[in-house]
Amino acid sequence: MTTDIESPVSDTDDQVAWFRNSSPYINAHRGRTFVVMISGEVLDTPRLPALIHDLAMLNALGVRLVLVHGARPQISRRVQAAGLESRFENHTRITDAAALEEVTAAVGALRLKLEGLFSMGLANSPMYNATIQLISGNFVIAKPVGVRNGFDYQHTGEVRRIQVEAIRRQVDSGNVVLLSPLGASPTGELFNLNAEEVASSAAIALAADKLIVLGDGLRVDDDEGRLLRELTPQEAGRLLIQERFSTDPVDRQLTAACHAASNGVARAHLLDTCEDGALVRELFTRDGCGTMVTRESYETLRGARIDDVGGILELLAPLEEDGTLVRRSRELLENEIHRFALIERDGMVIGCAALYPFPDDRIGELACVAVHPHYRNSERGLQLLRYLERRAREQSLQKLFVLTTRTAHWFREQGFEPAGVDALPAQRQALYNWQRNSKVFVKSL
Ligand SMILES: CC(C)(COP(=O)(O)OP(=O)(O)OC[C@H]1O[C@@H](n2cnc3c(N)ncnc32)[C@H](O)[C@@H]1OP(=O)(O)O)[C@@H](O)C(=O)NCCC(=O)NCCS
Repeated sequence: MTTDIESPVSDTDDQVAWFRNSSPYINAHRGRTFVVMISGEVLDTPRLPALIHDLAMLNALGVRLVLVHGARPQISRRVQAAGLESRFENHTRITDAAALEEVTAAVGALRLKLEGLFSMGLANSPMYNATIQLISGNFVIAKPVGVRNGFDYQHTGEVRRIQVEAIRRQVDSGNVVLLSPLGASPTGELFNLNAEEVASSAAIALAADKLIVLGDGLRVDDDEGRLLRELTPQEAGRLLIQERFSTDPVDRQLTAACHAASNGVARAHLLDTCEDGALVRELFTRDGCGTMVTRESYETLRGARIDDVGGILELLAPLEEDGTLVRRSRELLENEIHRFALIERDGMVIGCAALYPFPDDRIGELACVAVHPHYRNSERGLQLLRYLERRAREQSLQKLFVLTTRTAHWFREQGFEPAGVDALPAQRQALYNWQRNSKVFVKSL
């Protein structure tokens, strides 16, 4: 459609920008192992084909994928249709021989449904040209839960072992492995398993980079209904004691994430598939859209290295363009990279600052202080300043100075005092740009 008024940013521009911004994530995810659990509820929704397309795209981008599917609502429906009674103890189904028949039928049907969806390749679909082998088999070895508190759980089982090497061989060949909540014991019996336990056990055994749990309406909020974006396993554990997280299925999903993150899986993500494209947004945008349980804080403040040059240039470019900062070439930045400190968030540089010491004058210049606009007002600027103040003290500097045209008040609030150009070390005075007319501020350390 054409209109009289041209929009300054077209859809195509947005798409190009989005695609460019996603390239660091494409590089970061290639060759990584993700265990993705699709809960039984999601398998019933009309959003499933779109989700399968997104998983096919991950496979095409070189992610080593192991899928785990749930089957709880499908099993419940079959048990009910067969006129059997569903019995639960401790949120766990007691599976007798008759119920096991329904479990195997439900799981078999779901496996075939997923095989069908992964085989789609119509010319007008996103999976055109994608040939993906979805491999399922006896990858999960089970053992019986047995008798607990006087209840015999019969054919309800637990994960005994994951056939790691067999799974690795498949994903190494580019195949997608599908695990079901059903496992065989070495005696040849079948056991009904908890899909979340299969997913977390597989992620731990495979030393996966991520466990991703996809649920229908799966949200982990704080008391005021705001999404909790990042939790440590300890924080997740504290939530699990709360009443509002003790309901099925969120308690099992959060428990699985917590268990995986506590046992070597770097990141466990909980995503609500009610939001279209949740998986893509979580994996290819800076902030994602779900809750991540991780032991490592995914924001770090550290000294810059040579391979950070690209990220720093990207952060500084808009500020150089609008004149807030003085332009620096890539060569200059490469030579001075050891002067920079930065804040890295999920592999991206979101803040930086540099310290240029003048040891003879016992003074240092603070420069290039910048925080990405999305991440301002959370004291990141302050953290960078403190870090460089510490560095300056270690180098026996007694003062810091800064030249600024627009950020005077921020520096004043951090303890810098206005000063004249004559307060600068002689070497720096000679380079002072009178046309730029920056204000000088000095802070004693
Ligand atoms: C200055 C800057 C680094 C601060 O980063 P930050 O992480 O948001 O900093 P903090 O959270 O520690 O401080 C935020 C406070 O500073 C204030 N602030 C930010 N920029 C300011 C400015 N130019 N002048 C006055 N105050 C400013 C904010 O309003 C906020 O105060 P408030 O909480 O009372 O509203 C960031 O705004 C930035 O990158 N600016 C553009 C680059 C720049 O000007 N760099 C300095 C070049 S010499």
